Amino acid sequence: MKINLANIKKAKNLLNKSECVAIPTETVYGIAGNAYSDSACKKIFKLKKRPTNNPLIIHYYNLKKLKGDCDLNGDFLKLYKRFCPGPITFILNQKKTSKISKIATNKKSTLAVRFPKHPVVRSLLKYLRFPIAAPSANISSRVSAVTSSDVKDDFGKKIKYILEGGRSSVGVESTIIDLRKKPKILRLGGLEVKVIQKILKKKISIKINPSNISAPGQLRIHYSPGIPIRLNAKEIKKDEALLLIKKSKINKPNYYFLSKKGNLKEATKNLYTILRKIKKDNYKSIAVGKIPNKGFGKTINDRLMRASKF
Ligand code: TXA
Ligand code: MG
Repeated sequence: MKINLANIKKAKNLLNKSECVAIPTETVYGIAGNAYSDSACKKIFKLKKRPTNNPLIIHYYNLKKLKGDCDLNGDFLKLYKRFCPGPITFILNQKKTSKISKIATNKKSTLAVRFPKHPVVRSLLKYLRFPIAAPSANISSRVSAVTSSDVKDDFGKKIKYILEGGRSSVGVESTIIDLRKKPKILRLGGLEVKVIQKILKKKISIKINPSNISAPGQLRIHYSPGIPIRLNAKEIKKDEALLLIKKSKINKPNYYFLSKKGNLKEATKNLYTILRKIKKDNYKSIAVGKIPNKGFGKTINDRLMRASKF
């Protein structure tokens, strides 16, 4: 993708003034602000209507820029070398000297760190004197944005500037791994657990439903298109759309397909766009056919399961 330096400069100038801008990443678009600035981080929470106790991911250009803020360890360095920049977020301990805003982390001693791969955001990060805090660019609890027009749909004029970067190539959020002690996956995402496993060569536990959420009812609704979703549906109700993993022979207007032939990576990339499209097409609910629970299918099922708590 060709980098438009005038656009980068515009985003940079706004960020320097502690304003928020939307940024493209390879996973999903983000709402970015200066991670060292309390006022910028406050604006992010307000724009997204995000509960202040849900900390933000901090995006860096490279390792060199991270060193002042976090303690690094062997597992982190192995994964950084293999996958960064890329769709993975690391939970690390912050250093006493860390300059990250306490607003961004909700005063946590840990930090979620990511090195996005998208060339536009890399070009921006390269020119900044600070890392950027950026949650996904959607209203809290709703489907993430994978194009600039998705961001416009959600925020309208409230967002000062959207840095154009085309459609996000991965289409779901980064995989989050806690590396402070034994590796622990906290969110399934754009990088498969089995490839992480191959590099670390040790057991990785999966804790995607944190134990502090004690009852299923407390599981926060997330990734919702704003209408009910039924999983593993066997029949379709009136005014309902049907979402299938691959194209079926039946061609009805209310049939939607995540991929042509069932490719799970392609399906992941299309997931949020199709959920948004079904809502725009005015269906009142979504019936989802069975999706294979392997590889990226696990990420898709995780998002749809959370979205079904509507
Ligand atoms: O792909 C992505 O990760 C996108 C793009 C924009 O980079 N960002 C993203 O951010 O998905 P957000 O804020 O929507 O999700 C961040 C998740 C939240 O579930 C939050 O609770 C968790 O990261 N998180 C942030 N800091 C944490 C920490 N110190 N410990 C554990 N979890 C943390
Ligand atoms: Mg999000």
